[in-house]
Amino acid sequence: MSGVPGEVHVPGARGPEGTVPLAVPNIGERERDYVLEAVESGFVSSVGPFVSRFEREFADAVGARYAVACSTGTAALHVALILLGVEPGDEVAVADFTFVGSVNPVAYLGARPLFVDSERRTWNLDSALLEAELERRVTAGEALPKVVEVVHVLGQPADIEPLVEVCERYGVAILEDAAESLGATWSAGRFAGKHTGTVGRVGAFSFNGNKIATTGGGGMIVTDDEALATRARHLTTQAKVPDVGYLHDEVGYNYRLTNLAAALGVAQLERLPEFVSAKRAIAARYDAALGGTGLVLPPRVAGFDATYWLYSVLVPEDDPRGRDGLLKHLESVGVGARALWRPLHAQPPFADAARLGGQVGDDLFARGLSLPCATELTEADQQRVIDGVLSFYG
Ligand SMILES: Cc1ncc(COP(=O)(O)O)c(C=O)c1O
Repeated sequence: MSGVPGEVHVPGARGPEGTVPLAVPNIGERERDYVLEAVESGFVSSVGPFVSRFEREFADAVGARYAVACSTGTAALHVALILLGVEPGDEVAVADFTFVGSVNPVAYLGARPLFVDSERRTWNLDSALLEAELERRVTAGEALPKVVEVVHVLGQPADIEPLVEVCERYGVAILEDAAESLGATWSAGRFAGKHTGTVGRVGAFSFNGNKIATTGGGGMIVTDDEALATRARHLTTQAKVPDVGYLHDEVGYNYRLTNLAAALGVAQLERLPEFVSAKRAIAARYDAALGGTGLVLPPRVAGFDATYWLYSVLVPEDDPRGRDGLLKHLESVGVGARALWRPLHAQPPFADAARLGGQVGDDLFARGLSLPCATELTEADQQRVIDGVLSFYG
C-alpha cells in the first residue's frame, strides 16, 4: 500500500484485496452479450451499429436532440469548445473545483481559463461571482469570456438558472461538463425535467471506468443544434468529407468511440436507472447514519436531483486530525475512501490563470473526501464504511 492516504483508492480500481471499493464498474451478463455481439459482427472499430445505437439511445435518455460519441470525455470537451468557437487567446470561464479534465481542453486550444469558485450550496460554480465580474467588465469596457464551462461535480447539478440568466444577458455560451452527472436532473424551476448537460448550447459526458455508466473509456457530446452536431461528427472523424475520396477539409481528430466500447455503453445505459437508484440508496443510508458525526454531508438541494456519483463529505473544521486522519483510519479498516480534488487554480500548469475567489474550493479540497459508493456495494459493505467512520468519531 502507498504511504499517502487515499492514493490507492483510485476510482475505477478495486484497491487492495478485501477493501470496500470506492467506485468500480458494474458489468453484468448484458454487457458481456453485447460486447460479444460486437466482436462477432466484425465491427470492432469506430464504425458499427452499436455506435449509432448508443448515440440515439443516449440522446433519448437525457432528452437531447443529438448525441455524438467520442473516445473520451476530455475529447468531447475539446471538440465542444471548438464548436463554441474557442480559439487561441480566448478566455473560458471554468469551475475551479473540478477534475483537471475539465480545463485541459481549454489549454489544448491555447485559450485562457478564468477560474470561478464554487458556492457552498451545490459545491459548483458560483454564478453570483461570475455575474459580478461580467458586470464589472462591461462597465469597464473589457472583453468577456467566450464560453462559461459549468461542471456538475460528483453527480450534483449546479444552480443553472441564474447562470443561464447571466449568460443570456451578456451573450456568453454555456458548455456543461456533465462528465460526472449522467442521470442527474432538475425537478423545479425553469429547467424542471431537464437532465444536466442539456441546458447549455453543448454538453459533454464521460464514460471512464469510474463513472456511473462506463464504456471502458469514452465520452459523448450532446446538443440540440443540428449544425453543431454535424460539425462534431466531422471533427471527431478526422474531418473527412463524406463521399469524396480522402478529402479532409480542416484539421480533425481521431476521437470516435469504437463499436466495441459502444456495445458496453448500450448495455450500461439500459441499466442506468438501476445504477442511479443504487447510488441514491447508498447516499440516503450514509446520510442517515453519519448525520451525528459532525461531518458536512453532500449537498441536498430541493429541485436538484443529484445522483451522488461519488458520495463526498467534509470533515469537521475544528478536528485537528483533519481529512488525512480520517483517510488513514479508513484505509486501516479496509475502506476505499479518497480525497476530493485540489482546485484547478492550485495546479502548476494553471498557477498563473485568473480567478474569482478560490477559498471555497480550497476548503472543499482541504476537508473533502469521497466514501465508497460503487453500485454493487452490499449492505454489509456499506455498514463497514459507516462503522469505519463512526469508529473514528466515536
Ligand atoms: C468533471 C470531469 N470532466 C472531465 C473528465 C474527463 O473525462 P475522461 O476521463 O473520459 O476523459 C472527467 C473524468 O474523468 C471529469 O470527472
